[in-house]
Amino acid sequence: MLVLGIESSCDETAAAVIKDGREILSSIISSQIDLHKPFGGVVPELASREHLEKIEPVVREALQQASIGFNDLDGIAVTRGPGLIGSLLVGVCYAKALAFGLNIPLIGVNHIEGHVFSVIFENPEIQFPALALIVSGGHTNLFFVPEPGQYKVVSRTRDDAAGEAFDKVAKMLGLEYPGGPVIEQIARSGDPKKIKFTRAKISDGRPDFSFSGLKTAVSKHLRENSIAPVIPGEDPSSDLRDLAASFQASVVDALIRTTEKQAIELGARTLIVAGGVASNNALREACSSIGNRLQIPVYFPSRHLSTDNAAMIGAAGYFHLQRGESADLRMTADVGMRLQNLDSPDAELKRQKVRYRL
Ligand code: KG4
Ligand code: ZN
Repeated sequence: MLVLGIESSCDETAAAVIKDGREILSSIISSQIDLHKPFGGVVPELASREHLEKIEPVVREALQQASIGFNDLDGIAVTRGPGLIGSLLVGVCYAKALAFGLNIPLIGVNHIEGHVFSVIFENPEIQFPALALIVSGGHTNLFFVPEPGQYKVVSRTRDDAAGEAFDKVAKMLGLEYPGGPVIEQIARSGDPKKIKFTRAKISDGRPDFSFSGLKTAVSKHLRENSIAPVIPGEDPSSDLRDLAASFQASVVDALIRTTEKQAIELGARTLIVAGGVASNNALREACSSIGNRLQIPVYFPSRHLSTDNAAMIGAAGYFHLQRGESADLRMTADVGMRLQNLDSPDAELKRQKVRYRL
């Protein structure tokens, strides 16, 4: 079965052809990073106009690289949400028109579920229950996944997403957008123990994340120590490198503490770590250590599948189409689409314990 995946929720126009849900025949990504760089972040209006320009050629290239024609497709999967409305609408309208024209099933995919599926291409079968840490520029969530397609949010961010914190701190340090990769690069030659940032406390005791306090602490540290931002073309000072390394260590520490605790409490048999921030090596190493301590496998997507792509959307779409689900032409973009179809991880866990005899 050949599924065309389409992704246009933020600043990547992407299309991919997926065979039988696990094999990538092609994956084309047209990134808008250079377009948005001068503004230090994604400009929604520019993003949707660019998607409009790119969607057609990107889909054609995906078919060409997979050596197939439109008539070979068995289904179309498109990101429905969450994301930027103008950007989402370009992909959704294009997919609807194509599915209608070809008379094949259409499925609307949750972008975050797409990130969960990004690990299935290069890893063994997932053992359930699993715990999925999805960390990107727009989202930071920990999901309990008792079986394929079932999700319960265990932790969410109360304010900024982890990737957003990387992007905002990079801007403060005078670094380019997107901030994650540049911070990681300069953090390599910095001391992660140099600055001790206080860990955010969630007053109601929920296992949630919070990164905006850390961002404020970085800004305060810059001001109080009169550290100047990077001058374009010059190497960052050692103060800046230490700050980047300490900030990164702080984000990683916050993410893994909660993840490990929840993995133990919920008896996870696999840890999935995906989303743009999952390309960060410090985070990967820390998550691998959790796997070693708990004796469970930790699955990451390969790097080109960590940031937004359409292969993960095609894989998630295939899964739903196989279950007999499909959308009709009334489907539209859903900016705030949630990924949660379970009530309580505890109740689910009890059922799972019976099923798996844990
Ligand atoms: O998944 P993604 O491509 O888009 C969203 O769905 O948001 O994630 C992009 C985010 C950006 O905030 C970027 O700074 C961050 O992922 N990112 C990283 C790294 N590479 C990308 N953050 C930390 N370290 C990295 N190496
Ligand atoms: Zn994403």
